[in-house]
Amino acid sequence: MFSEFESARSQDRKSELAARICLALRTHTAIEEAIFYPAFLEATGDTEIHHEAEIEHEGAKRLIGEIERNGPSDDHFEARVTVLQEMIRHHVKEEEQRGGMFNKAQSSDMDLRAVGRQLIERKLELMGEGGDEGGMQNRIPPQGRSRGAGREMRTRYS
Ligand SMILES: [Fe+2]
Repeated sequence: MFSEFESARSQDRKSELAARICLALRTHTAIEEAIFYPAFLEATGDTEIHHEAEIEHEGAKRLIGEIERNGPSDDHFEARVTVLQEMIRHHVKEEEQRGGMFNKAQSSDMDLRAVGRQLIERKLELMGEGGDEGGMQNRIPPQGRSRGAGREMRTRYS
């Protein structure tokens, strides 16, 4: 969606894409904070990674709020969306890298399949099926493959 935003020409299109980006990211941060982050902290006790991720979410949410409040007529509109993209890119990299959050979650005794399910259920509650363009069904982790949950979490921002 971010790349579509970059190449979009009309203000209406940019505005629509920004709204979708913000909604998707608000949903993602909300479900992670409600379900995945607490489960991660409980399973690993890793406050450093956990707190850093929380602060990154806070930064992203602040920008999202500003984008939503000020709209496309704000002369910092595009700059805010661009910086939001950079923040998310950084955040996802930190989560996915070796020794990062997903990696640590996978090597802990956390039940990733159950957590993945909860994430999906909560997301559907928040967005409704119509809001899920990727087709959530396809991302439900396969039986017995706990890595599936990690994959679900990785694809969220794309
Ligand atoms: Fe996150």
